Order: sequence, then structure tokens, then C-alpha cells
Amino acid sequence: MTSYAYFDRVFAVLDRSASVRDDPAATTLACVAGRIEFRNVSFAYDESAGALSGIDLTIQPGMAVGIVGPSGAGKTTLASLVMRLYDPTIGTVAVDGVDLRRVSQASLRANLAVVTQDTFLFHTTVLENLRYGMASASPAEVEDAARRTEIHDTIAALPDGYDTVVGERGCRFSGGERQRLALARAIVKDPRILILDEATSSLDSASERRVQESLAPLLAGRTSLIITHRLSTIRDADLIIVLDQGRIVERGTHDQLLAQQGRYAWLWRSQARREARRETYAFPGARRARGGRAVTASDPLELDPPAAGVGEP
Ligand SMILES: Nc1ncnc2c1ncn2[C@@H]1O[C@H](COP(=O)(O)OP(=O)(O)OP(=O)(O)O)[C@@H](O)[C@H]1O
Ligand SMILES: [Mg+2]
Repeated sequence: MTSYAYFDRVFAVLDRSASVRDDPAATTLACVAGRIEFRNVSFAYDESAGALSGIDLTIQPGMAVGIVGPSGAGKTTLASLVMRLYDPTIGTVAVDGVDLRRVSQASLRANLAVVTQDTFLFHTTVLENLRYGMASASPAEVEDAARRTEIHDTIAALPDGYDTVVGERGCRFSGGERQRLALARAIVKDPRILILDEATSSLDSASERRVQESLAPLLAGRTSLIITHRLSTIRDADLIIVLDQGRIVERGTHDQLLAQQGRYAWLWRSQARREARRETYAFPGARRARGGRAVTASDPLELDPPAAGVGEP
């Protein structure tokens, strides 16, 4: 009798149909330029309050767009609509002017790569894991991608290098290593649209900076959505949007947003202060080693130098 109850539940799951399905007349989205449009988009997961409301946003091909905002603001939801994991409740999301409801999901997803906080690795070789999105990639291309995300040395040190099977003989990866693998996988796929959702959050700030520097040339020419809590990551983005409670509350470049003295400027200053404090506490010698200057020209700290005495032993 107990098993019957289990089976009921198993079948209930098996019988579920996906909320997003291909339209019978769905067309194939060819290789896109990468223009993304949200036209008056609202979205709710269920009967509760909406996760997004009244989003109007046009992202031109090749733009790097930073998406910031407090936890629960709707950043991941926004990205999910671009991947068409859900359809908007109201409004339209379009890529290259085509409503996503009219294209096949496979052809849409062939054009994009996503790196999130959690990376799924398959029970197969590291090589196959890395070229999962682009089966035709050569080992040399895969290795080049792995070098760019600083994971090559770790892989090379495994018993069978790139042929090591993930999960076997102690071949496990840390959170940061998995993120590097995911970034390498995205690079191998070479997509037109790249979505990074807290994609470097598991790395410490020094390696995050290095990985980002090596990613920068790769972002060029493709549309990228970069969701992050660390604002210094998206300082150079072509456009930054600030989400709060499902709405875009501010948009502009870093400089424009700082000049607005609004939410972004406030967040930026408080993060800069926090990072300054972390830096001086973590590396007490750092200030003196740099000639007593804790601030460099490109450093966010210059905006709001720590108060006198902060960080002194
Ligand atoms: N699968 C889901 N089902 C129901 N509600 C959800 C689901 N995913 C997110 N939500 C809700 O939608 C809102 C927006 O969530 P979302 O994940 O987009 O926020 P976020 O800005 O990405 O936050 P974080 O910075 O914490 O990742 C939140 O109120 C959240 O509780
Ligand atoms: Mg999120």
C-alpha cells in the first residue's frame, strides 16, 4: 500500500508537461546577431507577487550589460526569460526581433551559453565535459579555453589529464574549480549570447580579477549579461541596470549612475568601503608595500577613501 502511494507521486511527476513547449510552427533561429529586447515584460512564477514587472529594455548586439540589485530583485529571473526557461506573463522577449515563443528552444539555446553559481559536471571525461556545448571542438581548443580560465594546470595534474573521468578516483572539483570549468565550457561553445549569473562568485577576489581579465577579450563582440553582487566586476559594462523588486530602478553606464547619486552610487560606495577594510585587514603590509598608497587610479576606493586611521594596526 505504501508503494502505491509512492507510485502515485512518481507518475504525477512523470505526467507533468513542461510549461514551455515548442510551438508547432516554431521556426529555427539561425546564428543571431544578439539583440535582446524586453517589451513591457512582466512575469510571475505563481499566484504570488510578480518577480518582474514592466521591463522595457533593449540590448544591442555585442553589448556587455551588468545586472545588479538586492537578492530576490529578479536578476536570475530576467536571465531565465532570455533562455526561455519561462514565458513572460505579459509582454514579449525577443532575440534579433523574433519573439522567443516563435522559435524552437534548441535553436535558441544553440546561440547561448550560461554560467551560474552551480555547475553540473557529467560522469565522463573532463574533455567531454568541457566540449559538451560544442562536440566538434578540438582538444587544443579545449585546452586553450582551460588556460584562459586558469583551470588547465589543475586538469593537467589529474591522473589522466583531460581524459580523467569526473567523479572517479578522487577527481572532484571545488566550487571555484567548477566555475572555472563552466567558464571554459562556455568559451569552447563560443556563443553569441553569454549569460554569467554570479559566475565568478566562488573565486577569491584576486583570482576573480585574473579570470575576468582573461574573459574580457572573449566578451568582445558578443552580447553578455553579467549578473553580480560585486560591482567592480561590471564597472566597464556598456550598460548597467539596477533591479529592485522586479523593476528597473536605474540604468546607465557606471559614470552616469555614479553621477545620479542614486541606489547604484550608494551601493558602490558601501562596497568600496567594505573592500578597503577587507584589504587592509587581510594584508596589513599592503599599504606600505605600495608606498603607503592603498589606492590605484582604477581602483574603486579612490571614490571614497577610507577615513583616516581605518586599517591602521
Ligand atoms: N522557481 C521559483 N518559483 C517561485 N518563485 C521564485 C522562483 N525563483 C525565484 N522566485 C522568486 O522570484 C523573485 C526573484 O527571484 P530571482 O531569483 O530572480 O532573484 P535574484 O535577483 O536573482 O536574487 P539573488 O541575488 O539572490 O540571486 C524572488 O522573490 C524569488 O523568491
Ligand atoms: Mg539570482
